[in-house]
Amino acid sequence: MSHKIVAANWKMNGSLDLVKELTGEIKAQLAKLDNGVKVVIIPPALYLRDVHREIGSGFELGVQNVSQWEDGAVTGELSAAMAADVGASYVLIGHSERRQLFGETDEVVSEKVAKALAHGLSPLVCVGETLDERDAGHAVDVVCGQVEKALAGIGPDDWKNIVVAYEPVWAIGTGKTATAEDAQRMHREIRDLLARLGAPADTVPLLYGGSVKPDNAAELFAQPDIDGGLIGGASLKADDFVRICQSA
Ligand code: PGA
Repeated sequence: MSHKIVAANWKMNGSLDLVKELTGEIKAQLAKLDNGVKVVIIPPALYLRDVHREIGSGFELGVQNVSQWEDGAVTGELSAAMAADVGASYVLIGHSERRQLFGETDEVVSEKVAKALAHGLSPLVCVGETLDERDAGHAVDVVCGQVEKALAGIGPDDWKNIVVAYEPVWAIGTGKTATAEDAQRMHREIRDLLARLGAPADTVPLLYGGSVKPDNAAELFAQPDIDGGLIGGASLKADDFVRICQSA
């Protein structure tokens, strides 16, 4: 029985029509899947209720971001409480697109992690190095630094709700995937760090993301420290996404 997690990050894609089509196909095809994989659908927040209605039980839902603030005069933001209220149980935090395009710092990431936990959401904390950082030999330091800062404020009871996604920035949406060995090596570093931070490290799911496709998913998922995947582009094609879930 698989204990893997496969999460679909739809990013800012879709429409009501696509939601209906994609959700319907995923539901129909994955209903037969009995490998125990946990499937998390993370649509644009505006469509979360529609996905919820269409997909029924057997799937988890998430949002792609929440505010670091509780509520009030924060025009345009969505709160962790609201995400939980409409059925989300996961939230992506610190995705590299948020860090790069919206200037999210490690400090903001850690505030969002705290806010998510306070409202019963599982933060899916995204970390990853750029190509320059990797080429300079700093990948492990960068990634471990991000993990440590994101999780600095959490309490001993919070670990059971934490998921970490390693997504090398150079592999996101580029068609370039880390080799299974490179990904495994980084996941091991992250797990060792979690142990040093006092976490029950073996039980914290570590997902790999970055150009995961049906033809590379099985090899990635076979690595001992890769507990599943965060899927962007391929999650918008029902057949590809279903095949990835089948590999888990
Ligand atoms: P990708 O995106 O699968 O399209 O590379 C992954 C992600 O950004 O979560």
